[in-house]
Amino acid sequence: MKVRIDAGRCQGHGRCYDLAPDLFGEDDEGYGQVIGDGSVPPGEERPARLAVSNCPERAIEIL
Ligand code: F3S
Repeated sequence: MKVRIDAGRCQGHGRCYDLAPDLFGEDDEGYGQVIGDGSVPPGEERPARLAVSNCPERAIEIL
């Protein structure tokens, strides 16, 4: 499982990196970024799905 952020949609709401800090970080302007290549390690599937469902811009997808 991998997560991806559509940079064109992200508005910097920050819920992804609040809810799943092992999977997402923020850039200098508060926009979300995946950590590493976006791979979701075992045990992180739940926070990954939580981030997807809580992004108001629907900017996160699971691949
Ligand atoms: Fe951006 Fe959504 Fe995260 S708007 S900062 S991807 S919660």
